[in-house]
Amino acid sequence: MSTPLILGIETSCDETAVGIVHGRKLLANVISSSVEEHARFGGVVPEIASRAHLEAMQPVISQALKEAKVKLEDIDAIGVTAGPGLIGALLVGTSAASGLALGLDKPLYGVNHLSSHLAVDALDESHKLGPVIGLLVSGGHSSIIQVNDLAQSVHVLGSTIDDAAGEAFDKIARLLGLDFPGGPAIDRLAKEGDLSAIDFPRGLSDTDYDFSFSGLKTAVARYLQKTPDAKRADIAASFQEAVVDVLLKKSLSACASTGIDTLLIAGGVAANSRLRELAAQRCEQAGVLLRTPPPALCTDNGAMVAAMTSLAVSAGVKPSHIGLEALSTVALSQPVWA
Ligand code: KG4
Ligand code: ZN
Repeated sequence: MSTPLILGIETSCDETAVGIVHGRKLLANVISSSVEEHARFGGVVPEIASRAHLEAMQPVISQALKEAKVKLEDIDAIGVTAGPGLIGALLVGTSAASGLALGLDKPLYGVNHLSSHLAVDALDESHKLGPVIGLLVSGGHSSIIQVNDLAQSVHVLGSTIDDAAGEAFDKIARLLGLDFPGGPAIDRLAKEGDLSAIDFPRGLSDTDYDFSFSGLKTAVARYLQKTPDAKRADIAASFQEAVVDVLLKKSLSACASTGIDTLLIAGGVAANSRLRELAAQRCEQAGVLLRTPPPALCTDNGAMVAAMTSLAVSAGVKPSHIGLEALSTVALSQPVWA
C-alpha cells in the first residue's frame, strides 16, 4: 500500500471519536463526548456510554469524512480500539468498524488503546520515529515504557501497583468537591494555590519504575479531615505536585539508565499543565528531548487510533479478523490482535 488513508474509531470509554490520517498526516479528528451525561454520577456509567456511542457513531464518521474531504470508498484500512476499555462501549466500535471493513472490503486493525495514546506522537511529521521512553498516564493506566518500535517492540519498565494517575486525580477531585472528570478541575484550581504548601508523600520513590498513589490519596483525605478549613487550591496544587514530581523523577531515571534521550508523555494526564511545565524544565536540565502531544490529542480521540493503525500498516503487521474480539484488559505488548 502506498501512503495509506486510514479511518480510526475510538469508543473505549465516554468519547465516540473518529480520526482520519494519511500516512502520518492528520486530516480529521472528530469527537462526541457523553461526559456530561455521566457527571451527576461522579464517574462513567458503562450503559449510558454504550448507548451514546450507538447514537453518535454514524454522525461522527460522516463529519470526519467531511472534514478530511475524503470519501468512504477512498479509505484503505479501518482501525478500531479493541481494548482495553469498557466492554459494551468497545463492542459498539468494533461492530461499526467490522461492518465498514466488510462493506468496503478493506483490512481491519483492532488496536490497543494504550499503544494508540503513544502513537499520536507520529502525527507530528517532523518527529523521527526512534526509540523513546514513554510515560503513559491515563484514567486507567500509568506506566513507563521503553518503546523501540510501537507496532512491534515495546518493553514495560514499570506500572502503577494501585490507582492510575488519572484515577488519583479523579478521586482527589471528588474529595475536594470538584466536578467530574477531576483532572482538568484540579489543574484549574491548582493554578490559584501554593504547590509547596503541603508536603504530601511521593509513593515508592525509592523503587525502580513502579508507581503507587494510594498512600498519597490517604494522606490528602487525612489532611482534609484534620484541616477542614485548609485552602482547597493549596491542597490541589500540592497534591498535583506530588503526582507530577514522582512521574517525572521515574521517567527521567528510565531515560538515564537506558541511555534513551527522548521522553514522550501521553494519555489524558499528559494534558496537565503543571506536568507539561515541570517536564519541560527537568528535561532541559537533563538534556532529554521532550515530546508532549497537543492537549487535545492527549485525552481520548480517534486520531490516535488512526495513527496507531497507520504505524501497524507501515510495519506490515497482519490485519485482524472481521468481528475481532474486544478485550477489557490487554497488555501493551499486543498493539494489534487477531
Ligand atoms: O486517556 P484518557 O482520556 O482516558 C483513558 O484512557 O483513561 O484519560 C482520562 C484521565 C482522567 O482521569 C482525567 O481526569 C485525566 O485523564 N485528565 C487530566 C487532565 N485532563 C484529563 N488529569 C490531570 N490534568 C488534566 N489537565
Ligand atoms: Zn485513553
